[in-house]
Amino acid sequence: MIIQHNSFKAGHDRFSKEDFGTDFKFGVSAAAFQTEGSVLTDGKGLSIWDVFSEQKGKIYKGQDAREACDFYNRFEQDLLLMKSMNIANFRFSLSWPRILPKGIGKSNSKGIDFYNKVIDKCLELGIAPWITLYHWDLPQALEDKGGWTNRKIIDWFTGYVSLCAREFGDRVKNWMVLNEPLVFTGAGYFLGVHAPGKKGLKNFLPAMHHAAICQAEGGRILRDILPEARIGTTFSCSLIEPYRNIPKDQLAVKRVDALVNRLFLEPALGLGYPREDLKFLKHLDNYFLTGDEDLLKFNFDFIGLQNYTREVVKHTCLVPYIQAINIKATKRKVPVTTMQWEIFPQGIYEMLKRFDSYKGIKNIIVTENGAAFPDKSENGKIEDPERLDYIRKYLEEVLKAKKEGVNVKGYFIWSFTDNFEWAEGYHPRFGLVHINYKTQERTIKSSGNWYSDFLKQLVRKET
Ligand code: FCB
Repeated sequence: MIIQHNSFKAGHDRFSKEDFGTDFKFGVSAAAFQTEGSVLTDGKGLSIWDVFSEQKGKIYKGQDAREACDFYNRFEQDLLLMKSMNIANFRFSLSWPRILPKGIGKSNSKGIDFYNKVIDKCLELGIAPWITLYHWDLPQALEDKGGWTNRKIIDWFTGYVSLCAREFGDRVKNWMVLNEPLVFTGAGYFLGVHAPGKKGLKNFLPAMHHAAICQAEGGRILRDILPEARIGTTFSCSLIEPYRNIPKDQLAVKRVDALVNRLFLEPALGLGYPREDLKFLKHLDNYFLTGDEDLLKFNFDFIGLQNYTREVVKHTCLVPYIQAINIKATKRKVPVTTMQWEIFPQGIYEMLKRFDSYKGIKNIIVTENGAAFPDKSENGKIEDPERLDYIRKYLEEVLKAKKEGVNVKGYFIWSFTDNFEWAEGYHPRFGLVHINYKTQERTIKSSGNWYSDFLKQLVRKET
């Protein structure tokens, strides 16, 4: 593996690292399924994503994550590269089926060893490990029993969490229970476009309710076993705005906002589900047991806010349950990323303000923000001016919110390297580091060099 360093020079910006204060955590984020590869190595069990990606027509160009970034074999070099880029915080997820191949029962010592090695290497290099317990790769053996739709998942999940807490908690101080529960239940159990490919309200509602309980139960288990740990969980969120300034569209905004931004957050804060704004939640009663209201609550040390874009919506009777549709960014002719997501830096500021207005939220960490753009390869260098511009603009908005008193304590870029972007395969590149998937060669992009200089405080403020 050759590591090339681009010739990006430290520059001047409208802000510098020190503006964020000394205790602000800058880092990068990644996830097991998207990077590790080695999906059947050393006793790992199949995950729902391994199975889903084998099915025809599910992933862009029929791609799969069997090799991905080969992080399983290359983690040492990748962590050294991270260190060389002055990155001091690494958020990554554990693969449940690597640790418990069947999801429950006998654990896999080689899987546990792998994560011990990753954690130990991080610590040796002075990189703080931030662990996400569930980033979407459910053991297939549990999906065969209904997966998230089966209430037994509460026992399965808490068993997995306590095992991880006991194995890794002596060295890992920062934990996140779930990654974006709305996305894995919505795309995986309602729309069927993510693993396990289930559809409809009858799958979504139980999956959603059980995930919301697991989110809090996971927090309780961690706090019980690791009283000193900082415990969080992460949420996708987007500013939702009306297409037209008319009452019908404003009501559509209210519904979509309740779904996208409040559904999992508010029950954790003890506010219950947003039933008033989402009438279809009345069907939840079929899955709601006495005492569940309490089970949904947990006092997290921090909330992980993940933001990429904003959504503009309008009223329609044609979409069941929500009576709203999203007006695509391309139709609105606004700047977009490879994902066709609108570039809208003010959105992260608005969402930080929103989250901060909840009394129950103690601290916010931006656990994901970043962008996919096509990279330009020039004389062995990878130039990605659009990503760099995106990151600078979003970060400036984070700083603005912080200066206005929002309790935001960190910012993690998605992602360290390019990786397997779920149903979109390898096509969208989100990395600060480029991967040549034929050779697995890593090349730091110009955005990566900027981040490295910024973190080393070589990026100075414009005067
Ligand atoms: C988030 C996911 C992450 C990655 C980014 C682009 O929704 O948490 O795994 O796919 O989007």
